[in-house]
Amino acid sequence: MNSEDVRKVGVVGCGIMGSGIVEVCAKAGMDVTFVEVDEERAERGRQSIERSMGKAVEKGKLDEAARDEAMARITASTSLDDVADADLVIEAVTEDLDTKLEVFGRIAELTRPDIVLATNTSSLPIANLAAVTKQPENVLGLHFFNPPAVMKLLEVVRALTTSDEVISFARGFAERIGKTAVLAKDRAGFIVNFLLVPYLNSSIQMLDEGFATREDIDAGVQLGLGHPMGPLSLADLIGLDTMLQVSNVLYDEFKDPIYSPPTLLKRMVAAGYLGRKTGRGFYQYTR
Ligand code: 3HC
Repeated sequence: MNSEDVRKVGVVGCGIMGSGIVEVCAKAGMDVTFVEVDEERAERGRQSIERSMGKAVEKGKLDEAARDEAMARITASTSLDDVADADLVIEAVTEDLDTKLEVFGRIAELTRPDIVLATNTSSLPIANLAAVTKQPENVLGLHFFNPPAVMKLLEVVRALTTSDEVISFARGFAERIGKTAVLAKDRAGFIVNFLLVPYLNSSIQMLDEGFATREDIDAGVQLGLGHPMGPLSLADLIGLDTMLQVSNVLYDEFKDPIYSPPTLLKRMVAAGYLGRKTGRGFYQYTR
């Protein structure tokens, strides 16, 4: 099992994270087949990849020929059967354990038993996903950061069952796609979300309690701490539904109130204000 031998990657789910993962793999020279639940979502995924690559061209990070070659390596599908011959499958469906278990079990049934199966979960237990496969030693977390085309980090998450060989494979794969790997234990939140979630939730709590305006909270962090964006803008970028799911998983695991999702976050998700993806979160967006 060598990351250099990966010719075809299967990516299951082509939302915010899945589409970015497809993009980075295709730009690194791999053929990528992504699977979505229906044609409409597959088309939306394809457009989002095209938009991001277009932005990379605009910013001088990619030339037009490389963009065209990368786009030509991408195949959209609505059938999981199309990842059956992949050398690596990365699952990036919605952050819900039952959904992931179901999808993961089906992927494991279809693919060769010797390939690596990865999940892009940001907080759910890798051990549970590994347990529904025939080769739990070949299962691990590959957690990308949003937007995947820009963020340099790849969290490699080792479950109790993951083999050393698969961890070496993941480090090689990270290098191949131009990311820096950090190794985390299979605990909710891994490294980054364990730290990020209480911080983002505190900013929502501050807004709800009227400590400051959304603009001043964001400007405070951006200008005072040198972050590229403030916490409320970042929550909108991540998606408030994802934030809520991740907070719930962390709270469930550690039972520490710092992970408990703030009431305003719950209400905004109930109202359908999910951030950039729906055009409204803490700010409004034109899509
Ligand atoms: N492809 C390639 N490069 C791109 C690009 C693209 N589509 N879009 C932007 N870039 C590059 C730009 O060229 C620029 O590079 P440079 O610094 O070398 O000049 C850099 O990215 C920043 O670009 P801009 O200043 O034009 O910024 P944008 O407004 O386009 O994007 C941002 C801003 C990259 C989102 C930046 O604000 C940022 O880094 N924000 C923080 C994001 C973050 O924290 N993500 C992690 C979220 S947590 C997570 O994902 C975990 C999950 O489990 C919850």
